[in-house]
Amino acid sequence: MADVTKPVLWSTSESPPDVLPIGDATLRRWRLEDVPALHQACVESQAHLIPFMPWAVHITAEDTTNAETYLAGTVAKWADRTTFDYAIVDADGAISGSCGLMGRIEPGSLEIGYWVHVDRTRRGLATRAAAALTEAGLAIADVERVEIHHDSANTMSGRVPERLGYVRLREQPADIPTDAGTGVHVVWGMRREDWPSSAGATLLAGVRA
Ligand SMILES: CC(C)(COP(=O)(O)OP(=O)(O)OC[C@H]1O[C@@H](n2cnc3c(N)ncnc32)[C@H](O)[C@@H]1OP(=O)(O)O)[C@@H](O)C(=O)NCCC(=O)NCCS
Repeated sequence: MADVTKPVLWSTSESPPDVLPIGDATLRRWRLEDVPALHQACVESQAHLIPFMPWAVHITAEDTTNAETYLAGTVAKWADRTTFDYAIVDADGAISGSCGLMGRIEPGSLEIGYWVHVDRTRRGLATRAAAALTEAGLAIADVERVEIHHDSANTMSGRVPERLGYVRLREQPADIPTDAGTGVHVVWGMRREDWPSSAGATLLAGVRA
């Protein structure tokens, strides 16, 4: 029987850059050797992640299997061009979160996801990461739209697409329930033609100036 919790992924024609600068931090492709740093960031942030990240309930301090499985999966998915996940690396070299472009919605559209280490929030990391991912995603020839989905109760996450000038498209049932989730996801979209004049493009240009 098909597993309805696992969306079908589509492959883009090309990959985004391995490294994306976002001011005093950097997005770079995850590597298998990041297991200890990713595991530590997840353990330290678990309580902060559980409300809206369904996988976070499975984190345990002793067991690095989740980080190993995630990184092995993300390396494989980058190779087949279905998902492009990046570590958010802070100016001090610390792993400060994760974000990515996922081909799990309809072909021609990529979905952005993100989380930030509990001790590194409120510095614009998620907003800058999403801006850089939007630009990189829309630069791929067969990507026409980038979307951000979040639970309607996750207002902090919702501020990210709003600040970048995304259009609020619709609400839809969440695929997977989360601890604090309402089960209703808000879907925001940015079309390729709207990006150059968006608040997000202006923000990114300022970050890189
Ligand atoms: C949501 C999350 C990604 C925001 O990361 P961040 O790097 O702090 O985000 P930014 O600094 O870019 O700020 C985004 C908005 O959230 C607000 N915000 C962030 N942390 C906040 C806090 N603790 N309390 C109140 N507001 C907060 C910011 O003020 C900003 O809103 P503004 O534009 O109105 O000022 C982060 O809190 C997180 O990882 N949460 C848990 C996982 C999660 O929910 N991921 C998203 C799933 S869709």
